[in-house]
Amino acid sequence: MGKIYTIANQKGGVGKTTTTINLGAYLAYYGKKVLLVDIDPQANATSSLGINKYDIHSGSYEALLGNSEIVEHIFRNPRLKLSILPASPDLAGAEVELVNELGRENRLKQALTPLKAIYDYILIDCPPSLGLLTLNGLVAAEDGIIVPVQCEYLPLEGLGQLISTIDRVKKAVAPNLDVRGVVLTMFDSRTNLANDVVEEVKKHFPNKVLKSIIPRSVRLAEAPSYGVPISIYAPNSSGAKAYKKLAVELIKGDGMKVAEG
Ligand SMILES: Nc1ncnc2c1ncn2[C@@H]1O[C@H](COP(=O)(O)OP(=O)(O)OP(=O)(O)O)[C@@H](O)[C@H]1O
Ligand SMILES: [Mg+2]
Repeated sequence: MGKIYTIANQKGGVGKTTTTINLGAYLAYYGKKVLLVDIDPQANATSSLGINKYDIHSGSYEALLGNSEIVEHIFRNPRLKLSILPASPDLAGAEVELVNELGRENRLKQALTPLKAIYDYILIDCPPSLGLLTLNGLVAAEDGIIVPVQCEYLPLEGLGQLISTIDRVKKAVAPNLDVRGVVLTMFDSRTNLANDVVEEVKKHFPNKVLKSIIPRSVRLAEAPSYGVPISIYAPNSSGAKAYKKLAVELIKGDGMKVAEG
């Protein structure tokens, strides 16, 4: 059975989408069947794969609110060998529309669980908020949350808030919710601050910090404007190598085999 991981952190701009796209691309590179799920109305994951959200008419919104088969809304990118359930413009209204729905926080989980039989990895990219969309993402995170933390400021306050949210969601609706791993992003070894953040985060999440640290790399920031992941845009860059390592770390940690891409 496949794994469902949700990439979440309520702080904006920490590398959630960058991690979803590039980790996803390298999981696919190593032979895994991957589905990316964009539940952020900003649709950055969708556009990072070269899909214009205004050109699409169905996606995660329909999965959250519609009654149709989820597979109808999945796009396949044959070049990358990965699939995406994109964010369409309608998703912007979902937060409000979901409020009156029955089982409103379970919608995504219900839609995605059957797909575990098809995909090895389902990665859900969340918006930078703690609303109903993120809540759906957390409840759907059957195999854990992946939390990107930016190494460029001391994230203590935000981390505390995230930990208490996870605890609340766990008590209320998802008793098995856990953190699969913390990914340190935008690491710059030249600064003392970056090293301090690494130490601090390790204290907050003992044994959860993943070994593969993502460096600050301009190439990672450039790739989305070309609509491709780093594995295509700059496969030899430091950012690419880091996400490649992260993919291997995750696959091995999950007890699966790494097939050379
Ligand atoms: N390791 C990195 N090195 C350099 N730039 C990066 C790195 N990771 C992410 N970025 C850039 O930082 C910005 C924020 O990253 P990203 O969009 O992945 O964060 P996010 O958490 O998804 O943001 P949001 O909360 O808005 O969804 C983007 O412009 C991205 O290209
Ligand atoms: Mg994002």
